[in-house]
Amino acid sequence: MPASKSVNVAVIGAGVVGSSLLNQLIALNTNIKYNLIALAEAEKSLYSHNYEPLQTSHTWDWATALQNATEKTLPLPDLITFLSKSPKPVILIDNTSSAYIASFYPKIVENGISIATPNKKAFSSDLKTWNQLFAGNETDGLVYHEATVGAGLPIISFLREIIATGDEVEKIEGIFSGTLSYIFNEFSTIAPNDVKFSDVVKVAKKLGYTEPDPRDDLNGLDVARKVTIVARISGLEVENPTSFPVQSLIPKALESIETADEFLEKLSQYDDELSKLKEEAAKEGKVLRFIGKVDVKTNTVSVGIEKYDASHPFAALKGSDNVISIKTKRYHNPVVIQGAGAGADVTAAGVLGDVIKAAQRL
Ligand SMILES: NC(=O)c1ccc[n+]([C@@H]2O[C@H](COP(=O)([O-])OP(=O)(O)OC[C@H]3O[C@@H](n4cnc5c(N)ncnc54)[C@H](OP(=O)(O)O)[C@@H]3O)[C@@H](O)[C@H]2O)c1
Repeated sequence: MPASKSVNVAVIGAGVVGSSLLNQLIALNTNIKYNLIALAEAEKSLYSHNYEPLQTSHTWDWATALQNATEKTLPLPDLITFLSKSPKPVILIDNTSSAYIASFYPKIVENGISIATPNKKAFSSDLKTWNQLFAGNETDGLVYHEATVGAGLPIISFLREIIATGDEVEKIEGIFSGTLSYIFNEFSTIAPNDVKFSDVVKVAKKLGYTEPDPRDDLNGLDVARKVTIVARISGLEVENPTSFPVQSLIPKALESIETADEFLEKLSQYDDELSKLKEEAAKEGKVLRFIGKVDVKTNTVSVGIEKYDASHPFAALKGSDNVISIKTKRYHNPVVIQGAGAGADVTAAGVLGDVIKAAQRL
């Protein structure tokens, strides 16, 4: 397809999401041309010093080119200088989970560089950074971060769009973590079971659903970060992800244990409490789910275990899906968005959708 416009693109991170994003980006054949001018991993990188596209075709083998790269990754301030001199509008795609890179977002945006990213860190840090990123100064770059909540699911774009049309969010309630979705869907089912919490966590780790140390999922912080983001979009001034109640599923005594293996071994000693809670819920015809909640009217945000009736959409959830229910002034019957909340291809597609939106506006 003949391109009517072109933008320059810099990609940081070529891991699980980054690899898929690069494959999707390079294969794009639309009326906007996306010229890759930088591709960086932690150690080595490819740069186009004359701002001509690095890719030679829609099937360019970026992985081999990166593997054979000899240039060291530029320090962030130098990358910003390089990108800010781009003769064409430029979009930076950050496919890392780096808080360090995220701390540069305000400077990146101030330099007129747009951002598309699945990295939650900048959006769930302090409120000041959030306000800086969305100050909307005319010369600022654009900021898109759909994949920071629910991967490729249209949650952030939906919220922003309905708010822009004058709707008001009243409540958001959801299962925001694929890992905790899987764990609770297996642990607490509509039909009674005698599954132990610690056994499900072990299986989830074996299946690759958890972080290398499952405590990074069980501490509830990942959910708190996502809830911070949707609460802020809904108009709440959430200071940071620890400024509201977040229930941790890690027994106090196991918080400081050194290794993940030792933690998993000892977790079974604490199964009784959650088993009791599950049995109580079952007696009421309910199941347990790990939920993030935002109530705009009462200005409250929370993360933790809740009980749901067997007939509730959250109770019937399977696998590791996310599900988010959004009640607004116009949608009295909540809008329910459900689907995979993780995975390379869907997350990358969420990021690429943002790149396309930014490019259309630039
Ligand atoms: N995986 C999912 O399903 C999913 C879903 C939703 C959101 N996300 C988010 O997507 C992001 C990426 O996740 P992932 O699973 O793709 O992670 P990953 O596989 O660990 O990849 C991270 C990539 O970032 C690079 N990197 C790290 N620090 C860097 C630095 N300072 N400079 C340049 N490159 C750096 C790494 O390079 P090296 O290999 O050289 O260290 C690696 O290529 C995270 O923010 C995650 O929360 C992921």
